[in-house]
Amino acid sequence: MPGPGIELIGAEETAEVLEVISSGFLSRYGPSDNPAFGAKVHRIEGEVARLAGVRFALGLSGGGSAGLWITLLSLGVGAGDEVIVPGFTFVASISAIVYTGATPVLAEVDRSFDLDPVDVEARITPRTKAILVVHMLGGPARLDELKAIADKHGIPLVEDCAQAFGATYHGVGVGGIGAAGVYSFNEYKTITCGDGGMIVTDDEALYERAFAMHDQGHAPDRLESKYAPRPFLGMNFRMTELSGAVLLAQVRKLDMITAHLRANKEIVQQFLEEEPAIEFRTLPDPDGDLATHLVVVLPSADIATKVAREVGSITLSESGWHVYSRMNHVLERRTVTGKGCPFNCEIADHSHGDYRIGMLPQTDALLERSISIGIGVRDANLAPFGLRMRDGADEARTTALTFRGAVQKHLA
Ligand SMILES: Cc1ncc(COP(=O)(O)O)c(C=O)c1O
Repeated sequence: MPGPGIELIGAEETAEVLEVISSGFLSRYGPSDNPAFGAKVHRIEGEVARLAGVRFALGLSGGGSAGLWITLLSLGVGAGDEVIVPGFTFVASISAIVYTGATPVLAEVDRSFDLDPVDVEARITPRTKAILVVHMLGGPARLDELKAIADKHGIPLVEDCAQAFGATYHGVGVGGIGAAGVYSFNEYKTITCGDGGMIVTDDEALYERAFAMHDQGHAPDRLESKYAPRPFLGMNFRMTELSGAVLLAQVRKLDMITAHLRANKEIVQQFLEEEPAIEFRTLPDPDGDLATHLVVVLPSADIATKVAREVGSITLSESGWHVYSRMNHVLERRTVTGKGCPFNCEIADHSHGDYRIGMLPQTDALLERSISIGIGVRDANLAPFGLRMRDGADEARTTALTFRGAVQKHLA
């Protein structure tokens, strides 16, 4: 059971889904004058927009990956452009850029484990069309600095909030700070419907473009389908009422999830703080951390590896498709067709991205000394050791003592 939401699937989700099935209205479009139509997708979009403090949300069947791709396309990102993205992220952030035809420009993360604003600014060129900030492991990035840089250069900041639904930054839900934000509702995420995603934005024109892209070019109509003039060709990433129903039940559990995770994280951190050799991730806004993970930094890569082995975990540098150096398909520039931009691109003066192991030394040096203790997410490729959503204070204490003991053993 990977993420918090999936562990809480129960009677509420069942009731919501049964309502949809017995109504017979399974598509997001239904008759607004028929009370049997529950408009679940419309309603969960309203809830998520409210949490992000913006006017528009768009539910997607295609997950966070489709959400990022559609957002970038809707911002006009395409062949010949560049998008800055951290080298520590799930590979989907990079794939979404690649399939717009733009070049992913990999940037360093700092002790926040999110984009390093100094490195981002150094990588901006006239071709930079977006900065894709990823709130990794539930921890919001340095949004003040990143937003200031984006605004200074007139470049949109897109928030990849796939791992951070429910986190806030200075009291605002992540996703509502940049030009747009994207959530994932796969099984590893805060709340889930199995697979699905959502885009949020306060920009009406961007929302209209994203809506059209997600539904065959249609103009937005949130309840009934509308055969209005179509601005351009689209695709189909419509969320179904079944997914909307599960998410409506799940989102009601969000406050309980975040309160529980934060309490457990606090217990684990307090025990670890007694060992001065254990350092912690810098959180730009500690109150807004989702607390799905507690990231620790150890004195050396050697100690971190030994501790990880001792507790049955991995260092973050070993975390599969979350680190650029382990993304073989990126390093080898492989796409489904092998044709066209960004890797096989005819556009003049296009400077291709640089992808090789060791290209982000600051990120590499940090990740090899770091381990994530799962607080509410158990993922063999990210945080195999830690707590699960249903664990309480006793398990939190035991987990902390086991980890602290392993560190003390290998410091000696
Ligand atoms: C940071 C990040 N971005 C994007 C995605 C893609 O989301 P999805 O699996 O819903 O397509 C994920 C999923 O794991 C992720 O962790």
